[in-house]
Amino acid sequence: MGSEERLQKVLAAAGLGSRRRCEEIISAGRVSVNGRTASLGDRVDPERDEISVDGVPIDPKVEKKYLLLNKPPGYVTTVRDTRGRPTVMDLVKGEGRLFPVGRLDLETRGLLLLTNDGYLAHRVMHPSYAIDKTYLVTVEGRLGRRGLAQLREGVPLEEGVTAPARVRVLENHGGRCVLEMTIHEGRKRQVRRMCAAVGLRVTDLVRIRLGHLDLKGVEEGSYRVLSREEVEPFLA
Ligand code: URA
Repeated sequence: MGSEERLQKVLAAAGLGSRRRCEEIISAGRVSVNGRTASLGDRVDPERDEISVDGVPIDPKVEKKYLLLNKPPGYVTTVRDTRGRPTVMDLVKGEGRLFPVGRLDLETRGLLLLTNDGYLAHRVMHPSYAIDKTYLVTVEGRLGRRGLAQLREGVPLEEGVTAPARVRVLENHGGRCVLEMTIHEGRKRQVRRMCAAVGLRVTDLVRIRLGHLDLKGVEEGSYRVLSREEVEPFLA
């Protein structure tokens, strides 16, 4: 039989932040143990008890790993591709059982996280946490005042109007335009579809930032391991 430990200690060891922070999460009623909302002072057996935070199961027994990959074009963002194409997992061989956090299209390049931490993935992807994602977007066509205003106000797509994007025009001449676009929703092919809706065709798309993280020092096709301190802001 395993032994019982304070819940906040187990959560902190599982990577959810300092013990103090974990006490706050418990007090806020966000933690459940075996399906029941936990209270401060509860003790758990990490071997046996089922612990969830915000409804996402936490496995304190697995050591958490976080990689920041600079994805090249031509790799599918999935653990296994049914059509046998190269996947992002081919770029992190030997790092164990990980999965990508969200997705970048086949031809999109840039910053992609991989982890074995389901809670981190939930926090990064769930729209309610509104994490900024910044893209360098090269398009064919000229972006006029109306198109720019529309991107900044929100663009109607099939499933509804997008949230406003923050847009900086870096170049706009000769039928080609380079934009820096920041969005916080994670709809499918969102940047490409927003651009298409204002008459622009994306020819190159790179995710350059995700929240506080950027690609500094990570060449295309390579990755680095993130520290606990680097992922903590996503959990706060
Ligand atoms: N928006 C897109 O259109 N594609 C991506 O890969 C990411 C954001």
